[in-house]
Amino acid sequence: MNILVTGASGFLGLYVVHALLERGYEVVGTYRTPGKDRALLELGVKAAVKMDLLDPSSIKQVVKGVDAVIHLAAYYTFTGKKEMYRKVNVEGTRLLAEAALKSGVDRLIYCSSTEAIGPVDSPPADESTPPNPQFEYGRSKLEAERVIASLGGKGLKYTIIRPSGLYGPGNRDDVSYWFITSFARGGIYSKFLVGKGLTLVQFVHVRDAAQGFLLALEKPDVSIGQTYIVSEDRAYTYSEVYRILSELVGRNPPKYSIPPRLAKTLLTFTEIYDRLRGGENILYRRAIVDAVTKHRAYSIRKAMRELNYYPIHDLKSGLRETIEWYRSTGEIP
Ligand SMILES: NC(=O)c1ccc[n+]([C@@H]2O[C@H](COP(=O)([O-])OP(=O)(O)OC[C@H]3O[C@@H](n4cnc5c(N)ncnc54)[C@H](OP(=O)(O)O)[C@@H]3O)[C@@H](O)[C@H]2O)c1
Repeated sequence: MNILVTGASGFLGLYVVHALLERGYEVVGTYRTPGKDRALLELGVKAAVKMDLLDPSSIKQVVKGVDAVIHLAAYYTFTGKKEMYRKVNVEGTRLLAEAALKSGVDRLIYCSSTEAIGPVDSPPADESTPPNPQFEYGRSKLEAERVIASLGGKGLKYTIIRPSGLYGPGNRDDVSYWFITSFARGGIYSKFLVGKGLTLVQFVHVRDAAQGFLLALEKPDVSIGQTYIVSEDRAYTYSEVYRILSELVGRNPPKYSIPPRLAKTLLTFTEIYDRLRGGENILYRRAIVDAVTKHRAYSIRKAMRELNYYPIHDLKSGLRETIEWYRSTGEIP
């Protein structure tokens, strides 16, 4: 079976490709940034192909002769430009799914996110919870889900996977990366906890997320036309996350609790300072206060029941491995 993985050069992509190759599939992976094909070729893909979701002709090329598409490529940031979310995540997904349908691709598995559901009033949320995404990123993932589902009516055999926050070795430059490495370096902000630390947050080790895609691919009898949340099977309070991190990096958990409103006021100055120096710190933004003061807890019962999905990494063992990797690359002491 010939599988096309879009966004194969990304953090999740490399793990999904690795899992597929281990199972004996032939894999073609897409990359966008020059040079990012190297890691893919080293993994043993049949081909690494340049594709940009902003370029319709490159999309049409990559779906030719493919049996299934795992669509991971995305404009993945929480601080991006509104029109880019639309162009890449929504319109790019539409073009890819339409091209796949037209060229006879048998399956399409779309990588959404629990951010398409957004914050949760009565945790945990599940696949039937009405979505209420908080950020433009999540809104674009939800809209792309709807684009995919509407093509289901035209014969597209799709499955939607919603991973929660990913972490693991290899991750760089996103929220979980900055959260872990800033704390390990002991920066000033790691001394403060916004609110009382009782808000829930949920993660998935990247290897467990990759398994979710594999299971969805291999169980078409149940997974076609379905949506699955893929995550560790429990949420953690921020206090628990800090306690785990503290043990692993040998630093004290945050000492001071700071009310959300005050945190936002102080971060206004950080944002102004960042703007003046022309830099950006994705962690210390007012939007992050909004994020950490709302529960993000999700049930994976449906994936367990229908896909036999059982994540093997808990947060502590997964973070231990991740922190060891950051140490080995010199990113943290
Ligand atoms: N990270 C998380 O916590 C998380 C949680 C839930 C869901 N997700 C979803 O998981 C998927 C993979 O995310 P990730 O964490 O692996 O992010 P990532 O490391 O930033 O990977 C993104 C991938 O998309 C490609 N890409 C970006 N813009 C593109 C464009 N215009 N055209 C074609 N390809 C483009 C990148 O290519 P190059 O690297 O070659 O530039 C890269 O391969 C995304 O769909 C994301 O929404 C992520």
